[in-house]
Parts: sequence; C-alpha cells; structure tokens
Amino acid sequence: MRLYIKDEYKKFVNLLDFSRGKYSTGQVFEDFLYMSAIALKNSCDFDKNEEDWYFSIIKKYEKNELEVFPKLLAELVLIIVKNDKFTDVLGEIYQAINLNSKGSGQFFTPNHLAEAMAKMIIDKPSNTDGVITVNDPACGSGVLLLNAANSFKDENIDYSKKLLVYGQDIDIRCFCMTYIQLSLAGIPGIVVLGNSLLNEKRKIYYTPQYVKNCLEKNNKKNKAS
Ligand SMILES: C[S@@+](CC[C@H](N)C(=O)[O-])C[C@H]1O[C@@H](n2cnc3c(N)ncnc32)[C@H](O)[C@@H]1O
Repeated sequence: MRLYIKDEYKKFVNLLDFSRGKYSTGQVFEDFLYMSAIALKNSCDFDKNEEDWYFSIIKKYEKNELEVFPKLLAELVLIIVKNDKFTDVLGEIYQAINLNSKGSGQFFTPNHLAEAMAKMIIDKPSNTDGVITVNDPACGSGVLLLNAANSFKDENIDYSKKLLVYGQDIDIRCFCMTYIQLSLAGIPGIVVLGNSLLNEKRKIYYTPQYVKNCLEKNNKKNKAS
C-alpha cells in the first residue's frame, strides 16, 4: 500500500517504477540511495572500498537500466531547487512508498514540526560569532538538520560557513538519505553509520561542503605559516 504522494514527487516515484516489476520500487529506491551517496562522497573524499560497493550494486542492472539512476538524481535536484527552503524530500518519499513499514518502525518528524523545533533551538543565528554545531544522533533522513540550515537561510546567514551538522543513524538507508540531502543542500556535515548508543562508527562520510571548508582552512594556514 502506498501513502499519498505529493504531485511534485510523482515523476520521481514513476521513475522508481521504471522496470514494471522486474525490480521492486523499494529496491530501486535503496540502490539509488547507495549509489548517489557513494558518488557524492567519492567526488570529494575518494575511498576504493566505497567504489567497490558501488560496482557491486550496479552489477544487477542491465546497461540500459542504469540510465534511470542519473535521471532520479537530476529529478531530486530539480525538486530541491524549486523549493525556497530545504524540505525532507527523500524522507517523505521513503515513507510514501512504505519502506519504513518493514518492521523498522521509522517515522520521521514532519517538515513543519522540524522547522518549528529548529527555530526553537537556533533562535537567532545572527547573534553568534562562531560556528553553530547541531547534532542529531538518530537523524533518520536528516529533516532536523536540514531545518537547522533553514533557520540560517531565514536570517540570510551563510550556513555553508556558519553551521556544522553531525548526523548519525543505525540504518544505512537513513545514513544515505541524510548524506545525500545535506550534500545537495551545500551544508557542511559529518554523517555516521552506526549505533549511537555504542559510539559505533561503521562508515563516516563528510559532505562536499565540509571537505571544501577544511581545504580552505588548510590553505589559509599554509599561507600564513
Ligand atoms: C523516529 S526516527 C527520527 C528521525 C529524525 N531524528 C527525525 O526527527 O525525523 C528515529 C531514528 O533513529 C534511528 N535509530 C534508532 N536507534 C538508533 C541508535 N541506537 N543509533 C542510531 N540511530 C538509531 C532509526 O533508524 C530512525 O531513523
């Protein structure tokens, strides 16, 4: 059973159904998450193990079937750029296609509530000189972290320099959703796969904006010395 799918997500969901049953919608969505997260991560912080994982995923698709994945990523980017504010697109689709029903018990905070919570936590980013860090140790698809950036946007403050987010989740699909959405939003962040209660870190991905900020900092240091 599918929940209500917003009109703006229909093209994306139709693409997920491209194989007419050869692969399930959920399988295509999961593979899209893994492949996109790895591609974004390896574009700025290459890891051969992650590349091997990528190749193990694409193996099950025919060459012409693989065309759907860049189309999905392009469609996701289009949905994001059409919105003034960051919204939890992947989390909403994940719940709409019922991937959260397989006994995982995952329900994410609705966007408007996450926005209100972020506003309560980060009242006036303009009042802070340094970098504000936000941690969600059970981040789901990253809705609270995306809305932290919205609080900066509302005050016209450059979240790409003034915000640092940390997200962790035990579920690899959530880990990937958070990483993809933070990366496409240009938010500096560290995303970890693992059990927060055990301080477990199975994977650590840095967003492209985080890597860029680190490189700029190092360059400045080198010039000064
Ligand atoms: C109710 S969802 C909330 C997600 C997000 N914070 C939000 O507001 O939408 C809880 C999330 O916690 C994750 N989770 C549960 N136990 C965890 C643990 N021990 N370590 C890390 N993540 C965990 C689940 O996979 C799920 O994505």
